[in-house]
Formats: sequence, C-alpha cells, structure tokens
Amino acid sequence: MDLTVNGQARNFGGDPDMPLLWYLRDELGLTGTKFGCGAGYCGACVVHIDGVASFSCVTPMTVAEGAEVVTIEGLSPDASHPVQVAWRELNVAQCGYCQSGQMMQAAALLAETPDPTDDDIDGVMTQNICRCGTYPRIRAAIKRAAGQEAG
Ligand code: FES
Ligand code: FES
Repeated sequence: MDLTVNGQARNFGGDPDMPLLWYLRDELGLTGTKFGCGAGYCGACVVHIDGVASFSCVTPMTVAEGAEVVTIEGLSPDASHPVQVAWRELNVAQCGYCQSGQMMQAAALLAETPDPTDDDIDGVMTQNICRCGTYPRIRAAIKRAAGQEAG
C-alpha cells in the first residue's frame, strides 16, 4: 500500500493490521512518536492522518493507505511551527515523554480552531495524558501559539 509520511512517498508491504505506530517507529525510525498505553487512552502516539489527530497505536496500516501522515518530525521543517515555538518559550516539557503527542494534538486543534476558548482546549486536550502534570503550561502554550498571549 502507498502512503505519504512527512511529505515523502512510502510503500508498505507488510501486515495490513499492524498499528501505524509500529511502522513509524520500527520501520521508518521516526521515534518522536511515543508508545504509552497502546490502547487509545493516553495520546502519546498522536500523529496527523490527513490533518486529523489520530492515535497511531490503534490505527491499523489499512487506515493509512493513501493518506498523508505527519509526525512530530514533519510538523515543520525547522521546528518553527507556532506550537513548537510556544512550547519552547514556555518550557512546557518536564520529562517530555507525552509532549510530541501533546503538540500534534494542539497543532490539529489550532488548524481546526485558530482562536480556541478554554472549553475548546479542554475538550480536545483531555485526550492526552501527562504524568508530569504540565497541563497549565500546555494550555498557556496553546494560547500563545494562537496569539492570545503576548510573547
Ligand atoms: S500509546 Fe496510543 S493512546 Fe496511548
Ligand atoms: S512531560 Fe512527562 S509525561 Fe508529560
């Protein structure tokens, strides 16, 4: 099956039921996307599939067929996406393990809702767990990336 990953055409000939996360990490070496629960509960594995934030741990390869997949490595060519800039400026990460999933979720939120309310943010970001409790900084960084707070 054919798909695009971070703008690059790829062909996959393996098990169509294999999770996309396995393909990204083990076959393409894109280890920025993390394995957390493996069951669709934590959000560590979020990537974009045709622009939609998706849990890659529970997404079989068949779903990615013909799709454009974007991982944290492909969010921008030089880490200049507004979400990445805001995350750095506010030092959002603690251990960092959840943060690529958080940023991919936030980037999809802002693409859909460029000026999100607190309810918009909470409604989406509750899908992503952070064991370090960085939630206040995540919310602040999303607001900064949306231009709602001064830099
Ligand atoms: S690893 Fe995919 S949701 Fe937890
Ligand atoms: S920064 Fe450690 S789990 Fe979120």
